[in-house]
Amino acid sequence: MVTFFSYTSKFLYRHVAKPVLFSMQPDGVHNGMLAFSKVVQKPRIMRRMISGTLAYKNPSFLTQTIHGITFHNPIGISAGFDKNIEMLPMLRSIGCGLMEGGTVTNIASKGNPRPWFHRLPSTQALVVHAGLPNHGIDTILARLASIPAHVRGDFPLNISTAPSNVASIDTTKKMIADCVAGLKKIKKSGVASMVTINLSCPNTTAKEPFTNPKELDQLLAAIDKVKLPVPVFLKMPNQLSWRQFDGLLKVAVKHGIAGVTIANLVKNRSLVDIKDPLADTTLGGISGRPTFAPSNELIRKTYQKYGDQLTIIGVGGVFSAEDAYEKIKSGAHLVELITGMIFEGPGIVGQINRELVTLLKRDGYTHISQAVGAHLRK
Ligand SMILES: Cc1cc2nc3c(=O)[nH]c(=O)nc-3n(C[C@H](O)[C@H](O)[C@H](O)COP(=O)(O)O)c2cc1C
Repeated sequence: MVTFFSYTSKFLYRHVAKPVLFSMQPDGVHNGMLAFSKVVQKPRIMRRMISGTLAYKNPSFLTQTIHGITFHNPIGISAGFDKNIEMLPMLRSIGCGLMEGGTVTNIASKGNPRPWFHRLPSTQALVVHAGLPNHGIDTILARLASIPAHVRGDFPLNISTAPSNVASIDTTKKMIADCVAGLKKIKKSGVASMVTINLSCPNTTAKEPFTNPKELDQLLAAIDKVKLPVPVFLKMPNQLSWRQFDGLLKVAVKHGIAGVTIANLVKNRSLVDIKDPLADTTLGGISGRPTFAPSNELIRKTYQKYGDQLTIIGVGGVFSAEDAYEKIKSGAHLVELITGMIFEGPGIVGQINRELVTLLKRDGYTHISQAVGAHLRK
């Protein structure tokens, strides 16, 4: 019965909602969806109905405990979908195994001038030029603290943070101090299950200084002193050469970082297959299908060298269970997505989980952990 509802919701999204939503400007659709979610997620009966229709549970195959956190399934929402962490109840209800909220910053920021998003339908991608807009850590943490315990449940919340994208934070030293100030507030609030430092936002004025090993070392040395009681992850850039990427991983391991999220948007358009017209004047990084192959390659290489030291969250171009499984077999314990949900609707999370179990059974596995890194054991 649940499967019937799940496939019906997918059909309705694809053939009824999506044609309407995709005829509108993406920034407006995102705002509308946020407003809709904030209303619908409030009544318990709505959360129950959504969960009963869309969520898929199979603890014996899909539940993992990693760094002391129980993830009921491996599929989460990636950073940027819920920038102010206002949709936690909704994302839990649709059956996510975790959410990465944010990216939030110590000082609130309006982000770049609109529009922030452009759709590339034939490429199955978005162009993103938001520039870390968010209400600021104080406001966001206060809101999170007000969520009742039964609504939050044991849903893992990964808070993504970065230096504030404001004119006054204009040197590496100030960026480190600002990031540390935000992390101290997150520590004090106790609302995060884990935190992710976004090293790689391609749309800020600061030009990603922490994608250099020397600056990253300085940032992580300062973060070490905060003594966060939760696992710390790094959101890694996409499309770096392995030599550059490995240089960053070495620094991460030196500082006892728990894991890496691979990877962010692609920036170099000439290296990926873009099937839609896209003017050079349309600024921003590209999500979705073009991120899939480069992120998988970095996941594989990272798992091969650091599989016993770093937990990998695989991100980029996941539209199906096969795509998620590819990331898992390349070395990811957890998988996050955004563009797949925008293109396929909220039923995608439950559907991926359901079909992942079928794929695991097909390959003779009895638990998801047995498939992690399977490509490298061939
Ligand atoms: C609308 C949008 C906003 C994003 N904002 C952020 C962000 O604030 N922080 C971040 O670390 N990544 C951000 N990203 C990157 C995603 O987290 C993810 O790494 C990338 O989109 C690839 O995944 P996908 O193909 O499933 O979308 C954003 C992506 C999209 C599509």
